[in-house]
Amino acid sequence: MDAAKEKPEEPRSLAQLNRMLAAAPPMVEGGTRAVPGEGPRHALLALVGEQPGDQEDREGRPFVGPAGWLLDRALQEAGVERDKSYVTNAVKHFKFIRRGKRRIHSKPTAGEVRHYRWWLERELDLVQPRLVVALGATAALALAGKPVAIGRGRGPMVLDGRPGYVTIHPSFILRMPQEDRAAAFRAFVADLKKAKGLAERAA
Ligand code: URA
Repeated sequence: MDAAKEKPEEPRSLAQLNRMLAAAPPMVEGGTRAVPGEGPRHALLALVGEQPGDQEDREGRPFVGPAGWLLDRALQEAGVERDKSYVTNAVKHFKFIRRGKRRIHSKPTAGEVRHYRWWLERELDLVQPRLVVALGATAALALAGKPVAIGRGRGPMVLDGRPGYVTIHPSFILRMPQEDRAAAFRAFVADLKKAKGLAERAA
């Protein structure tokens, strides 16, 4: 789909972009409301996740559910202030399948990620963060415009012309066996510290 043809209007502010996003139909199955990014323009770091989850969809804010709590803890340990960072997602609607009363997260396809790239690119152009952090493979795909293997690609990487850093998604740690989580969390914190250091040096 040629998203640019569908959305010819170029937003001149984040507020305008978010109004357009709120009015845009969801591209993923199940999606109800759009969850916009949040945080200041010219943030040191923009943290980009995959897509809003159940809690984010209810509250209309990114990373406020279990993955967000873990992200918050990691940011705190890394000395990164969430309020001073820009937090957003590659896909702007919650994609899910219903099982009884539960809404189960469903991974976006590469085509869906491509569709939402139009929004993400404009968002980042308007925010102008010093460095973008891809949290997991979906964010890396959206930011790079091509698949990135997180194992090999983890670390600093130019993401389609933007200074970037690729790391894991916090939900990946939540899905790990209990005994592996502490080490994975420490490595995640170390990544966030390195990303912060790079962004500060890029001043
Ligand atoms: N996972 C994400 O990628 N983003 C959120 O906002 C929440 C969970």
